[in-house]
Amino acid sequence: MLRLLHILGSFAVLGSSVATTWPNHIMDELEHLLVDTDGFNDAGLQKAITPCSNYVSGSQLLGRETAAQWVRVAFHDFATADVEAGTGGIDASIGFETLRPENSGAAMNDSLGFFAPFVNAHVSMADMIALSVVMSVGSCSAPSIHIPLRGGRVDATEGGLFGVPEPETDIHTTLNQFSQAGFSQSDAIGLTICGHTLGSVHHAGFPQVVPESAVTPNNTGGGIHFDATPDVFDVDVLNEYLEWKGQRGGPLVTTENITVRSDLRLYLSDNNATLQGLAESSSKFISTCVSLLTRMINTTPESVRLTEIITPNEVKPVNISLAVDSAGQVRFSGYIRIKSGAVIIRSWALSLGFILIACVSHRITWTSRSGASSPAFSTHAIAAQTGNSSMFGTTFYHFFNTTLDPAQGISAFKIMVMRSQDQSVQTLENGREGYPIEDVAVFLPHETTIASDGSLSLQAAVLTAADVQNVTAVISAPSPQLGTISPVIAKSVVNFERNGVRGLYTLFTATIPGVPNLRQTTLDLTAHGRGSLVYRDEFRRIAF
Ligand code: HEM
Ligand SMILES: *[C@@H]1O[C@H](CO)[C@@H](O)[C@H](O)[C@H]1NC(C)=O
Ligand SMILES: *[C@@H]1O[C@H](CO)[C@@H](O)[C@H](O)[C@H]1NC(C)=O
Ligand SMILES: *[C@@H]1O[C@H](CO)[C@@H](O)[C@H](O)[C@H]1NC(C)=O
Ligand SMILES: *[C@@H]1O[C@H](CO)[C@@H](O)[C@H](O)[C@H]1NC(C)=O
Ligand SMILES: *[C@@H]1O[C@H](CO)[C@@H](O)[C@H](O)[C@H]1NC(C)=O
Ligand SMILES: *[C@@H]1O[C@H](CO)[C@@H](O)[C@H](O)[C@H]1NC(C)=O
Ligand SMILES: *[C@@H]1O[C@H](CO)[C@@H](O)[C@H](O)[C@H]1NC(C)=O
Ligand SMILES: *[C@@H]1O[C@H](CO)[C@@H](O)[C@H](O)[C@H]1NC(C)=O
Repeated sequence: MLRLLHILGSFAVLGSSVATTWPNHIMDELEHLLVDTDGFNDAGLQKAITPCSNYVSGSQLLGRETAAQWVRVAFHDFATADVEAGTGGIDASIGFETLRPENSGAAMNDSLGFFAPFVNAHVSMADMIALSVVMSVGSCSAPSIHIPLRGGRVDATEGGLFGVPEPETDIHTTLNQFSQAGFSQSDAIGLTICGHTLGSVHHAGFPQVVPESAVTPNNTGGGIHFDATPDVFDVDVLNEYLEWKGQRGGPLVTTENITVRSDLRLYLSDNNATLQGLAESSSKFISTCVSLLTRMINTTPESVRLTEIITPNEVKPVNISLAVDSAGQVRFSGYIRIKSGAVIIRSWALSLGFILIACVSHRITWTSRSGASSPAFSTHAIAAQTGNSSMFGTTFYHFFNTTLDPAQGISAFKIMVMRSQDQSVQTLENGREGYPIEDVAVFLPHETTIASDGSLSLQAAVLTAADVQNVTAVISAPSPQLGTISPVIAKSVVNFERNGVRGLYTLFTATIPGVPNLRQTTLDLTAHGRGSLVYRDEFRRIAF
């Protein structure tokens, strides 16, 4: 007993002092939304804008486009930033501001309503707004235009300043507003024409700009495009304006009512100089848009610390879990997601098809609770499913499901990827210590049950030898809040009670009230052992 405690103790210290790259919950979650966009394990975000002309919140005959709405929503959230005061920017305050005339139109609630089911303890609505810009621009361009994404934005709890420029706003006020948000005159011109390569101005919402004649049976919202390709992020809007052809820059340039020609006023404010500079080449236009849109989505309240840039993981552990079954057996299972680049099977796969993919097998090795290795601590991950991503290429999912010796346990695992092209093996160690995994206090999401009154019964297993005093969890539940369609994360603490024994583990259980969003409700489990020993199983979904 003493020996085991000593071992547990050293693990706890080790676990807290070693810097690892995984898990990083914000980055892991956003990476999933960004990369897993089709096929197996699809996160479901890109579907809304596939094809890019799609309108996800209503009839296709309305003349509306979700991809364009997402970019406009981000602009409206950003536009009231005050960089000197360090307030506003991308903070989802737009959700509280939808009834302001300056935010009129369906786009704000359409978009936030679509994003709401994705929000959880580590995915803020503000990060969803930023991600949606990255996804719109990346999906609606070929070759795909990549805006770097960072995470970590924090949602506002109330509306912010007024001041989003409107079609009626005079040029002086408009430029001052952009300047307050950190954007110079040429930045403002550039950002606006970059945004206005997607979508339309609609009679419904902007009758002072677009006449009723735009309304037709298959365009009932009366949308008039900014350029010939409203569903492609490209330079067309700029060329059409400068060459005065096609849509000539769109309704905010050409409308009969001079008062609402806001784009024309902006573009002429430096005698077209900025736009002529951007027209040098398509790549100049694109690279400027990437830079300006990056600055836009990274404009946040000064207290926000953004993460590193989120790049697709070449190899990523997915849904790794431990389960303690009724016989006290410990099951270790999960998926290893591998991007096509990591296993170079393309040229072979083409000729041999299914057979080759099925032969690609990767090994998972682990170290015991005390950090020991053994040839027995190993299993294979078998090719299971294929995912698709239009922006980042194909992903391959490899599944493993094995038993562990509960006396030995597990503290970390490593992934050995075999490259079928040359049979070479790459070992992924997540820094040096491997991918950490908690086996002293284990939440059991597969055993969550829902009672007829909606309440939830939660189960956890804690190694009996760890001699824990108490087990608690912080529940993070996305919940409705007044004034915005965006959820707030309601946190509550629940105490677990002892509930029998399973092999070397003691079971603990707790009951909580029903939650509005089962999929995105998560918990952080904490078990207090002797002295200052603490075991944590963090950011687990409460049910599978
Ligand atoms: C002076 C600045 C701006 C003004 C006055 C302005 C005004 C407008 C108006 C009136 C619409 C029509 C909305 C509708 O009918 O649904 C619109 C659409 C749009 N705006 Fe702007 N805008 C400005 C700058 C920007 C910027 C900086 C961006 C993004 C970087 C942007 C992105 C968009 C997009 C993507 C649409 C199409 C929305 C859709 O099709 O639903 N705008 N803008
Ligand atoms: C992935 O995309 C390819 C090409 O578009 C398609 O043929 C294939 O069926 C897709 N696979 C999945 C799993 O969706
Ligand atoms: C809408 O109808 C018009 C006239 O019938 C047609 O020319 C146009 O292509 C249609 N547009 C769409 C998006 O279906
Ligand atoms: C700016 O461009 C517009 C549209 O092509 C054109 O009508 C206008 O004359 C130009 N103005 C200047 C000062 O170049
Ligand atoms: C032009 O638009 C302004 C602002 O929306 C409006 O007050 C004015 O009545 C409009 N003028 C005409 C002739 O429609
Ligand atoms: C792993 O295998 C066991 C035994 O066959 C099964 O009960 C369990 O559901 C599997 N786990 C997963 C995640 O598929
Ligand atoms: C759990 O036990 C730890 C250590 O004994 C103690 O510090 C903590 O206050 C306890 N928490 C609860 C909720 O009882
Ligand atoms: C958007 O949704 C919020 C929250 O449900 C609501 O209070 C607001 O009135 C809605 N705005 C519009 C323009 O419908
Ligand atoms: C991973 O877990 C989530 C949440 O329980 C689930 O929705 C998703 O389908 C799982 N993915 C895989 C590949 O098992």
